[in-house]
Order: sequence, then structure tokens, then C-alpha cells
Amino acid sequence: MPEPQYGDPDREYQLSATESEVIVAGGESYNGWTYNGEYPGPEIRAVEGERVRVTIENDLSEETTIHWHGMVLDGDNAMDGVPGVTQAAIEPGEEFVYEFDAEPAGTHWYHSHVGLQLDRELLGPLIIEERDPHIEYDTEATLVLDEYLPTEPRVETSNGNGGGMGGMGGGGFPDAPPAEGTLINGRLPDEPATVDVEEGSRIRLRLINAAAAATYEIGIDDHDLVVTHTDGPAVEPVPVDTLEIGPGERYDAVVEARSPGTWPIQVRAVNKSTSAGRALLDYDQSDGDVTEGEIGSRQLQLSDLHAIDSLDEYRGEPDRTIDLTLSGEMMGGDEWTINGQAYPDADPISIEEGEHVRFRMANRSPMRHPMHLHGHHFVVGDALKDTVIVPGHMGEITIDFVADNSGAWFFHCHHLYHMETGMAREVPYEK
Ligand code: C2O
Ligand code: CU
Repeated sequence: MPEPQYGDPDREYQLSATESEVIVAGGESYNGWTYNGEYPGPEIRAVEGERVRVTIENDLSEETTIHWHGMVLDGDNAMDGVPGVTQAAIEPGEEFVYEFDAEPAGTHWYHSHVGLQLDRELLGPLIIEERDPHIEYDTEATLVLDEYLPTEPRVETSNGNGGGMGGMGGGGFPDAPPAEGTLINGRLPDEPATVDVEEGSRIRLRLINAAAAATYEIGIDDHDLVVTHTDGPAVEPVPVDTLEIGPGERYDAVVEARSPGTWPIQVRAVNKSTSAGRALLDYDQSDGDVTEGEIGSRQLQLSDLHAIDSLDEYRGEPDRTIDLTLSGEMMGGDEWTINGQAYPDADPISIEEGEHVRFRMANRSPMRHPMHLHGHHFVVGDALKDTVIVPGHMGEITIDFVADNSGAWFFHCHHLYHMETGMAREVPYEK
């Protein structure tokens, strides 16, 4: 197992948000916005319980903020990075100091929470090492999945069937511009990211879907993925061939290196015509020729996930149940709504400190919605998560959480273009 890197009680990082050239593969590049000129942004890493300080300098021409996706920020709501809700956005030329406890452990990420900036690549991994992992492994690698969008992000319209645009007055849903490919750690498949393994070792893959819009299916030719964590919290290890990961979600999976070769790690956008992404799992004895194998059909289901931590405090009847209908305006609409309201013209969801709260979400649209609650983990099925996909076509998902972290928290669809056109609410409560 890798030694946790205990160090100073405080981890300090310096980020600057800048316009920079992003090189994706084979010399292809475009003008993106990045942290420190890197895409994905520099890894921020700490051991659970440590205090982390990140100073950000805004060298962009627009205001910005950073959200620490996965951190519960107990008592630190002001560090949550939601402009106009938890802080005033950081003006161009200004600096801001974020400081928070590294809790909980797991695979998390950080990203801008202003407008469509996330889709300009203002994002990076945030890894919190657990002091006492429930699994054994030898090495680890982080894979950041994302769409290749070399143009300026803007809200477009689609028919909800994936691929083509609705266009021409036919009505449609506000959506992302079509991506031009799938990136793994910032690389297109013709110059793929490589994950090195030694035969007989176990590697922990930390998977982050940083895409603004795409849900991905991931699998590795001829290898099992033993899923061990979702959105940070540990689950009973479950072997699968593939898993689906929605925008904002994370999964950790241990892969046993049992068949020498150089195998494709395949990432396919679900319900989209975007070309697939690929990285390589490269054994040390391999000659580098890519071995083609097969990916089986066992796909991870929500019902396969069983949290290791006790879920007792979330069981029993809730103190408050809130029904939330997720929908969009098909005919000429340019909004996504929760109970018919489009944020910011939307009422806050009101709850009280100490309550066990249940959200019953019903999706009245054909598209899936990866719903994310800031500042809390919630129980869905038998798992603890912070982002969950509500399937399209009348999909329903119920989540339970305990209001034990007062503040003004954001609750929204992590499809950036759905959030930006209204699918969001504030959930404020006081001590
Ligand atoms: Cu990952 Cu409100 O965000
Ligand atoms: Cu959505």
C-alpha cells in the first residue's frame, strides 16, 4: 500500500486561473482556461483530517470561484465557492484564500462554479487519502474523463435523443454544444494516457467524470473493475466489467493486473455520437503493442453498492419529505426546471437544522440528470453519495440526508448546461 504522505498539518497550494493553450494530443491545441496552465489542473492532495489552504489568483478577464466537490465543509459554508450564495465572486486581478478540512476521504475534484467556466477546463482532481483504507492495493492512478470542446462553451438546443441538434424551430432542450471527442487526463485516443502496472499488482483507479454533459461507460479489455468507493465513501468491493459515471460522480475501482499486455481502457459517451476515449493499461513487460480483448456485460447497478459506514442515522421515517419534479420546456422553452421553477427565479428549499430530510426526485424528461447536493452526503439505496443520476423517461430516485451542517447549500443538476438554464435550488438552513 502506498505510504500516506503525512506532512505539515496544513497543505498549501497556489493556483492561478489563466487563459492558456491546452494541448490535447498530437500537437492539437486550443485556447482554454486552466489552473496554472495545466489541464487537468494540478492535483490537490491531503490526508483526511488535515487542513488545506488554497490561494487562488484570478488572472482571467472574468470573475471566478472554486468549488471543492466532495468536501462537506463542516462549519465552512463560506468556502463552498458558489457565487452569490456563499461568497462574492473573485474579481479579475484579485486573490482569494480557501481553507477547509480534508473531509471526507476519497476521490473528489475542484472546479469553477461560475457560469460555463467548468467547460473551459477550470477543473482538477482533489484526492483525500484515507488513514485506514478498507481495501489493499499497491499503486494508484487518477483518470479524469472529459469532453473535448475546443470552442467557446455556449448553451445550445438538442432534441434529447443525443447526437444531433434540434435546431430550426422544432423545439428542444437547452444542452451542451456537441463534443468533438473524449479526453482521458486531457488526451485524445491517438496519444493516450498510459497507466503503468506490474504483473501481479493491484492498482486503484480513481475515476472522475469532469465532463459538463456526458455520462460515460468505462471498462478495460479482459480486466475486472472491483468497485470500492463511490463519491468518496467506501463500499463493499464489487466486481463488474463496466460502470456508468455521470457528470460530477466519482468511482474508485481496484484492478488486478493478471494478464500481461497493453490493454485499452475504454470510455464511451452514453447516448451520444461522440467518439470514444481511450487510455492504456500497460504492463511493465509489455512490448507496447496494444492487445485487444473483450469487455464483459456485467454493468454496475446502484443496487450493487453497499456502504461500509453505518447508515443508521438515515434510516426510519424522515422528518420532512420534499417532492421534486425535474423537467424542461420542450416547446420553445429555454429552461430546465425543478417543480416548474428555473433558478435563480426559484424558491429556496426550506428545511430545518437537525432534520432527516428526504428528496423524492421524479424526472419528467428524456434526459438523465446527475443531481448534486453540496455540503452533505446522502443515502441512495444502500450507498452514500453526493451526486446521483436520475434516469430519463420517468426515472425516480429518492435520497435521504441529515441536515447537520448549517449554511446555504446549493443543490443542482451537474449537467452544466441544465444548471445554467435553471435546474438548481438553494437549500439554506441555520443553526
Ligand atoms: Cu461539482 Cu455545484 O458542483
Ligand atoms: Cu440535468
